Amino acid sequence: MVASHDVVDLTVRRMNFGFNEAPTSDKYFADGSMVFSHLVAILSAIFPPGEEIFVRSVRRYSDQLTDPDLRRRVAGFIGQEKTHGRQHRELNEQLTAMGYPTAWFEYLLESTERLEKFLDKQYPDPDRLPRLRHLFLGFTVAAEHFTAVWAENILKRPAVQAMMYDQEIRNLLNWHALEELEHKSVAFDVYRAIGVPESTRIRWMRFAQNCGIPILVLFTWLSIATTDVEGRRQPLRILKETVQMLRNPMWKGFYSDMRPFTRRDFHPDQIDTAELVARWQRELFGAEGQLAGHLK
Ligand SMILES: [Fe+2]
Ligand SMILES: [Fe+2]
Repeated sequence: MVASHDVVDLTVRRMNFGFNEAPTSDKYFADGSMVFSHLVAILSAIFPPGEEIFVRSVRRYSDQLTDPDLRRRVAGFIGQEKTHGRQHRELNEQLTAMGYPTAWFEYLLESTERLEKFLDKQYPDPDRLPRLRHLFLGFTVAAEHFTAVWAENILKRPAVQAMMYDQEIRNLLNWHALEELEHKSVAFDVYRAIGVPESTRIRWMRFAQNCGIPILVLFTWLSIATTDVEGRRQPLRILKETVQMLRNPMWKGFYSDMRPFTRRDFHPDQIDTAELVARWQRELFGAEGQLAGHLK
């Protein structure tokens, strides 16, 4: 069953990364790899519309939540995700200026926004069309676990830190990763409180396990093929870097970390990341924290 955890209010940190002021000079900012850099750009592109989906999926049920602690955590979750979207949009403008097709990926995902907004207007009661609404919440819960595993890998592996050449992009990813771990169980607790069948989230995770990485690789190649003249001239480099990217420590243990989620009694707090979170809270936002000066 649900693991007990201390209720700690989530901090919504307003950040100032200044992406518009100092564009990075190195196009292949991630480990000097064309493939890895396009992948990070794609992830940054899909975060804002993706996080909007998470926010809508959870907020839709906020009036049905009776636990005041959970309601407060939901408010914190929404605040954090909205801030992530805003900061990634700023980075995405810089990435667009560097030649990445960031706007395309944002545009494609925003089509779900139109559908959801129409449904929410036409059928404001979240108990109408329950299967469809549960599908969005199940997607959010699975994606949050996917993101939390990623975040843990980014924060606990110095090798991944060393790959991020661009200081400000590394700062953004570290801040985002930290907050993903801070709020990793909120959507899950909403899911349980609403009583959505466990099978919905488990099916989404199976899809993510089987198709997540192949889809990302496909999008990365598409991104290079359509916008990167240098990449089109070097198919062998792309293949080599794709293999290197898949062996990247960012993915280490990824599949095994996904597996517990498919258990019916899984809860995100069963994976103990409290120490990692406390350490990065100190390192980034303590008195001498690396990002204390980035707070607005
Ligand atoms: Fe986020
Ligand atoms: Fe999140």
